[in-house]
Order: sequence, then structure tokens, then C-alpha cells
Amino acid sequence: MKLFVYGYRPYDESEAFARFAEKYHVKLGLCREQPSMENAALAEGYDCISIVSTPMPEALIIRFRSLGVRMISTRTVGYDHVDLEAAKAVGIHVSNATYSPDCVADYTVMLMLMALRKTKRILQRADVHDFSLPGTIGRELRSCTVGVLGTGKIGKAVLRDLSGFGCRLLAYSRTRDPGLEVEYVSLDQILSACDVLTFHMPLNENNYHLIDHETIAKMKTGVVLVNTARGGLIDTAALIDGLECGRIGAAALDVLEDEAGLFHFDRKSDQIGHRAMSVLKDMPNVIFTPHMAFYTQEAIGDMVGHSVESCVLELSGKDNPWRII
Ligand code: COI
Repeated sequence: MKLFVYGYRPYDESEAFARFAEKYHVKLGLCREQPSMENAALAEGYDCISIVSTPMPEALIIRFRSLGVRMISTRTVGYDHVDLEAAKAVGIHVSNATYSPDCVADYTVMLMLMALRKTKRILQRADVHDFSLPGTIGRELRSCTVGVLGTGKIGKAVLRDLSGFGCRLLAYSRTRDPGLEVEYVSLDQILSACDVLTFHMPLNENNYHLIDHETIAKMKTGVVLVNTARGGLIDTAALIDGLECGRIGAAALDVLEDEAGLFHFDRKSDQIGHRAMSVLKDMPNVIFTPHMAFYTQEAIGDMVGHSVESCVLELSGKDNPWRII
């Protein structure tokens, strides 16, 4: 089996790719760039391509199919960047990768605590030897009601971790898990009851801009929002308005709308042109990180391993647990 890898990162993926290629007798092609019309021909003669989170639109999918590619494996849990309809139409399989939800759960709890304890302000001030107290008083998790939106693997891990803090926990999810010991409530109830809201849903057409002016108006004044899922869940313009008027007390964002092409790349010498990001980064009560919650040694090994393994399984006609289509 021949697998062409786009977005290859030698500094953290080389060991795992070498190990899994040897284990499954896979011939690898490696390219550091993200897939594009310009470099698609590199994958000619390969059965599968492995990608990360850059967009895979219809035109590119058609191009890869015409080059003989039969499967796209994304080394990510989310697959909202792949046009599944287009892939289905040309008969190309799509699979994702999984990793332990703990990396994202750990990071979520860290961001939540950082936001509640006004850590950005404290660190900024300490940096310039301003060791004063006014404006930095925090809140304890135990006195908060925390709402977890989305109770898949990551949402469940966050609920498990938070259960040790003594806070009241509420959950909202399109599909409820009857085995989960948590109080499920409606969207309106979770918005109006919680001091902290944390998002753990895959992005789809039903929840795009779930958080907008209308839903923000239903939230408690001073609410803290934590997003380690997908930027598209939150209308960024509405978020900025909510922060500016004080309805939203703080936000901790590991994801942002239109982050593709920015996050995980060195763009320090470029005109970024993402005005909303500049506004948010400037706010003392917004913690901003560039989609890092997944980034642990453990997760990278799984992302690479599952990508290689899913291609091997799919092409040998076996059950592929990571198959999306
Ligand atoms: C995912 O695996 O879905 C992520 O969000 C991490 C990815 C952007 C590398």
C-alpha cells in the first residue's frame, strides 16, 4: 500500500510514521506542505493520502481521485474540513483518527482555571513588574455552575475531571447518554444557568454559530466561555460584542473561525488580515492559543498510527473503525 502524507511534520511525526510504515509494510511519500492544486500531482500513483486540518474542498478531491487516490485519511478527530459530499460523489473513502480525549480535557480545565483566575492579566502585569492586586481577583470553580455542551468522548472526560472540583455540572447534547451521571438540560437552560460554558461538539450545519447575539443575550452576565472544539460554533463578531458590553466576562479560545492557514504556521512576518483575532488578542480577559489542546506526545503517536492503520484496513477490505464514508 502506498500512502502520501501531506502536512508532514518531521519534528514530531517522523518516528511514528517510520514505525507504522514498517509495521504495516506501507510505502510513504512525505511532503511538508498542505495539499493544494499545485502539489496534488505528487500523490499520483499513491492509494491514499494523509492530511491534517487544512480544507479539502470539492475541486481538490476530484483532482486527487483523477490521480488514482482512493482514500483520504485525516490525522484529526474532526473532519469538518473535508467536503464529504464531494468525496462520496467521486467514490473516495474518508477516515479520521482518534486519540485519548484527555489531552483536550486537560487543556480545557487549564484554560477554564486560567480564565477564572484572570491569569492573562496577572502574567502581563508581572512581566512589567506590576504586582498590584486590583482587577485580578478570581473565582473558585467550586462556586460555579459549569455547562458542558457536547457529551461525546471529550465532553465526558471534561465532566469527569471537573467532578473533582465540587462545581455544579450541567450538560447539553443533541444525543443524550443515558449512562452518564449528569443533569442534562435544554440549550436555553444551560445558557441561562451557567457561570462557565465549555464547548465539545463536532462542528456541523446544525450548530454552526450556535453562539450568536441571540444566544449570548440568554447567558448570565459575566459568563466565561471556553472553546477547545471548533471556531465555527461561535459567531466571532457576536463574541466580540458580548465581551465589549460585559455580558461575557472572559473567553478562553483555542480555536477561532478562519484559523486555517494561520494556526500551526509561522506567520510572524506576514500581514495576517484577521481583524477579529487582533481585537480578541488585545483584550485582557481573552486567553488565546492557536489550536493546541490536542498537542501531546501521546496524541501525535495515535494520530499517525491510526491514519496509517485505517488506510491499510480500508484497502485490504477489512473493517475500518475510523471510516467516515
Ligand atoms: C482534531 O483532531 O480534530 C483537532 O482539533 C486537532 C487538529 C487540528 C490537529
